Amino acid sequence: MSKEKILVTSALPYANGKIHLGHLSGAYLPADIYVRYKRLKGDDIIYICGSDEHGVPITITADKEKVTPKEIIDRYHFQNKEAFEKFGMSFDIYSRTSIPIHHETSKEFFINYFNQGILKEKKSFQFYDDKAKMFLPDRYVEGTCPNCGNEQARSDECENCGALYDPSELKNPKSKITGETPVLKETSHYYFPLGEYQQRLEDYIKENDEKYHWKENVLQYCKGWFKDGLQDRAVTRDLDWGVSVPLDSAKGKVLYVWFEAVLGYISATKELSYQKNEPDFWKKYWQDPETKYVAFIGKDNVVFHTIVFPAMLMAWNDANKIKYCLPQNVPANEFLNFEGKKFSKSRNWGIDVIDFLNLFPADPLRYTLAANLPENRDTDFYWKEFQARNNNELADILGNFVNRTFTFVHKHFEGKVPKTANLSSADNEMIKLLSEFPAKISGLFEQYKIKDGVSEILNLARAGNKYFNDTEPWKSIKADKDKCGNTINICLNIINTLAELLSPVIPFSSEKIFSMLNSTPTNWDDCGKINLLPGQQLKPAEILFSKIEDNVIEEQMNKLGKCEAQVNTETIEEITIDDFKKIQLRTGVVLKAEAVKKSDKLLKLEVDLGFEKRQVVAGIAQSYKPEDLIGKNILVVANLKPAKLMGLESKGMILAVDNADGKVNLVNPGEGVLPGTRAK
Ligand code: MF3
Ligand code: ZN
Repeated sequence: MSKEKILVTSALPYANGKIHLGHLSGAYLPADIYVRYKRLKGDDIIYICGSDEHGVPITITADKEKVTPKEIIDRYHFQNKEAFEKFGMSFDIYSRTSIPIHHETSKEFFINYFNQGILKEKKSFQFYDDKAKMFLPDRYVEGTCPNCGNEQARSDECENCGALYDPSELKNPKSKITGETPVLKETSHYYFPLGEYQQRLEDYIKENDEKYHWKENVLQYCKGWFKDGLQDRAVTRDLDWGVSVPLDSAKGKVLYVWFEAVLGYISATKELSYQKNEPDFWKKYWQDPETKYVAFIGKDNVVFHTIVFPAMLMAWNDANKIKYCLPQNVPANEFLNFEGKKFSKSRNWGIDVIDFLNLFPADPLRYTLAANLPENRDTDFYWKEFQARNNNELADILGNFVNRTFTFVHKHFEGKVPKTANLSSADNEMIKLLSEFPAKISGLFEQYKIKDGVSEILNLARAGNKYFNDTEPWKSIKADKDKCGNTINICLNIINTLAELLSPVIPFSSEKIFSMLNSTPTNWDDCGKINLLPGQQLKPAEILFSKIEDNVIEEQMNKLGKCEAQVNTETIEEITIDDFKKIQLRTGVVLKAEAVKKSDKLLKLEVDLGFEKRQVVAGIAQSYKPEDLIGKNILVVANLKPAKLMGLESKGMILAVDNADGKVNLVNPGEGVLPGTRAK
């Protein structure tokens, strides 16, 4: 097959938090395996990624920590970059969207659309904070739900009762930035007319699916969007963090983060070109119609990569002689969950990549994730499975095969590759079987069936072990040394092939094996052969995989779901003892408890606080039945300002902590305390 020119991108992770194992399984590990495999095929390929550094979530984190957005993105950009490196990601560049070249590129696209007259300007009403002098994105506004009275409702949706409403219906709206009451103020934004591209987008997907076989899950998502009908999308926001809109009439506005983030792939490739001192390098990929562009992402990003980004590129291509290539395939994965539940920072459910790699080497993680990729449906990471894959597959099957062969060759053949002579039918069968593996695995990798490809590679190690057992070199070494030499020669060549086939999956171990063999990778299509020269000197065996003990795994499992403070102390703000003294924590006893009508979350309690009896409404109905609460000792914030919940007065707040099941445990001050005792 002739060489392909390939451009691969992985979704640009938000520089707003640390990446966890779920990210790796979605958009990064499968791409890295694919890219490393394609490099071995000799294709001309570049692999692009970087941090997505704009958008509201970053400004919210910055506000919370009272630092600048720049501080946040610097922190997470470098942490994530390092985590990816440790994990063995082989990006040609890991760029970031805050760099000038990205701002220029995004503005260039915007202006191009503006000049073509594609963008529509529309007016709408949005909350505006007069004190902060800014429009407030949805998540910056809080108020009372017009439906249930929840006082912490968001500007257009209530998490308590699930109601959706127009922001103008929200009662008592407050700005989360200043606490002031925001006003509804008219603003105007530019909209990209996505609807006008619907037919062309449907054709584009159909055509590429026919030629390159898109994944079923991806096609289903697209179908859903087309069925609903594509709408105009606002591509600007009233915000001061982002790429500013390059129009005098749009002061204080930035481009919507999704509009510019996808262009980050292009600007990152430009940055790579400058690093290479070859300014036009990026054009060889982005602007060559022969380029095969593959965009790896997780399922939450599908619409942006199969609809929004292609439409943006179509719009550019319509007006320009030099055209960009659109994704030829978007092999999106579903999600990886953790031990049966979604990853959750606040519940401490899951593990960040960097924390994982401080405990274990990258390869066992890469192998475990690869063997269990959520290619068609959500899958889970289980600590026990990680241990089993490491111990029973990597160590016992692969490691053992390498080890027994090396022990043999050093003991009986002076550590040199034995020659072959008079091959038996078992030898020839093994050689034939070996020769079939590279093509079989390519076939799977080419269709993005990474998981199946990886399990096939381990089958070669299994076949190697079986061949070793069947030909019994420990017997032939005494009876017929030539026959024994055949076995060991073939086993070493299987190992040489395994090192190559596994190098996209477990690159660190593969490198060790090549070094033990004094060998290097060849072209993928040539690797399933008898390539080692007889007489070649081998190095001593190194330990490839160490077994993981039960207690090590149990320690990790025990940490799960424990309180966040034990894990993440860096973001906790310190207070003084005087701050603390302002809070009156007092013990109480529950006298009465009943359900609140029309609410499945709230219970109405009567609490004896010693000096008075109070009504407290608490969101614990999902965790406790009313009858179980009577007589319980509890801890109450006694001097909290009274509030109304579902129209009921609540005086004080009951302390509870989230447990790992997603429910809550009431804080229990223990037995023998009198109601009203102050906690200190
Ligand atoms: N930052 C987004 C996320 O983490 C992904 C952006 S992909 C890009 O979900 F193409 F827009 F960059
Ligand atoms: Zn509500």
